[in-house]
Amino acid sequence: MHRTHTCGELRLEDLNEKVTLAGWVQRVRNKGGLVWVDLRDRYGITQLIFEEGEVEASMLKEAGALGREFVVQAEGTVIERTAKNDRIPTGDIEIRVSRLEVLNKAKVPPFIIEDDTDGGEDLRMKYRYLDLRRNVIREKLHLRHKMMQETRKYMDAKNFMEVETPVLIKSTPEGARDFVVPSRIHSGEFYALPQSPQTFKQLLMVSGFDRYFQIVKCFRDEDLRADRQPEFTQIDCEMSFVEQEDILEIFEGMIRHLFKAVKGVDLEEVARMTYADAMRLYGNDKPDLRFGMPFIDLTAEAQGKGFNVFDNAELVVGICAGGAAEYTRKQLDELTNWVKRPQIGAKGLVYVKCHVDGTFKSSVDKFYSQDDLKDWAEKAGAVPGDLLLVLSGELHATRKQLSELRLKMGEALGLRDKFTYKPLWVLDFPLLEWDEETSRFHAMHHPFTSPKKEDIPLLDSDPGKVRANAYDLVINGVEIGGGSIRIHDKETQKLMFKHLGFTEAEAQSQFGFLMEAFEYGAPPHGGIAFGFDRLCAIFGGSDSIRDYIAFPKNNAGRDVMINSPSIISGEQLEELSIAILEKKDK
Ligand code: AMO
Repeated sequence: MHRTHTCGELRLEDLNEKVTLAGWVQRVRNKGGLVWVDLRDRYGITQLIFEEGEVEASMLKEAGALGREFVVQAEGTVIERTAKNDRIPTGDIEIRVSRLEVLNKAKVPPFIIEDDTDGGEDLRMKYRYLDLRRNVIREKLHLRHKMMQETRKYMDAKNFMEVETPVLIKSTPEGARDFVVPSRIHSGEFYALPQSPQTFKQLLMVSGFDRYFQIVKCFRDEDLRADRQPEFTQIDCEMSFVEQEDILEIFEGMIRHLFKAVKGVDLEEVARMTYADAMRLYGNDKPDLRFGMPFIDLTAEAQGKGFNVFDNAELVVGICAGGAAEYTRKQLDELTNWVKRPQIGAKGLVYVKCHVDGTFKSSVDKFYSQDDLKDWAEKAGAVPGDLLLVLSGELHATRKQLSELRLKMGEALGLRDKFTYKPLWVLDFPLLEWDEETSRFHAMHHPFTSPKKEDIPLLDSDPGKVRANAYDLVINGVEIGGGSIRIHDKETQKLMFKHLGFTEAEAQSQFGFLMEAFEYGAPPHGGIAFGFDRLCAIFGGSDSIRDYIAFPKNNAGRDVMINSPSIISGEQLEELSIAILEKKDK
């Protein structure tokens, strides 16, 4: 046996016990006649002590020469430390070593393997297996593990069955590009990796599995961001004989269970808001509700007073930043420059300071009287000391810009505490979304989402107005999950494909299997999928999902540790009947 205990478990109660530990050398302090070694494993750190007179000179020398990250085994006796360390649970004891064996040497690691490391992101990604030795990273994966276990516990208790669906499939149009895999046997043909198991879980409902879930890898070839990876994990779920309300209830339960079991947090009731309200009040379909600052429509109040910019705008809209009237000229200029950056794209920013003496100072005093500004302030519910920030222009663009500004002000005013949780269901998403590039409607969620019954007549007259039985779960401004009640009859599904611009032949060749299945007794069904990596990051208080994935890709979609993607040999290409026009030298 290599060890009797881990490096995290010995305490004063274990005094005088003979133990064997094994682990990695984190640090060596060599004072000549006295050597201390910090031995680390997954469970903690235990101090080893080698003292002149107590151990042979050769062992003292060997201990003093141990390098960082050497793997060693040490046998010895638990003794009480003279200088205790109250920062670690094993800080009251140390091991007086009687036998030391180096199990494996290690090269000097490229960065320090401690909570505070000197390793930059790229280096740590290249040596991810070393980064994973650090407590801070390991704890994130431990959190992920707990979330996974608790998810399975909840789902199993609710009678959901975990079923694995295939990874080599054919493409499902869900907005992103597919990763494809060439088939050797069927030359010129390709599998696609699933963007989600959407059609399979619906087929499982036709099979009668009535409550399905799967913690499953999904693959999307899209531009990466802090909360997006090309391969990520979903908690994918589907239920039969349900309505939207049943789904919201079951999965609100799942989220509350996770918060309670993993974080000990009693999550507040999940608020609800329609998509239309979210856009009107926050300019965003995933509003961060940790703070208020809703939009105030000032179009009626602001127009007709001779200020051209506002007069010509489709929307004049503002937010009220509480207590920010003290902002200096310089701060306001900075905000103005910030909204004018191409990433935000506003033409300018109007401000109104609500002074404590009841007067107003604005950047448009030339056009608006004190009474006008008072009207704005009243509409905004502003009190003396507040600052109104106003944007104007085309409806959608202006809402988007003000949404960014609202988030920035929330941050600046310290209103986005990462350990405060504000969950929200966003309901009644539009069914279709106009795509300028292709000049046609796309499914906002996916083509299997059902329209609201009362809106079906609008499909022909005003397709953009049709609402879907679709919902998202948002926590703190992050889209954590999304789902819908599905279409479960062939005719409606055909109609949907028609509105999405599929010819009958295209619909048949891509989704004939699903429509055929609908002819063999498909129950009403619906479901949802949660972004598991995002959920972990929210629980851990991080913006980036990367640290919650054992071996993530970098921002360029590359695994720099194994150097992937990489070129493959000419023979492999030939076998796959793939001709590469120009080979990349890498
Ligand atoms: P959707 O496309 O909304 O729905 O995906 C569900 C959730 O998955 C997460 N997510 C991602 N996480 C990390 N990296 C990515 N690239 C990424 N893309 C999405 C998000 C998102 O809310 N089949 C449907 C679900 C259904 O209708 O039941 C689907 O996949 O948190």
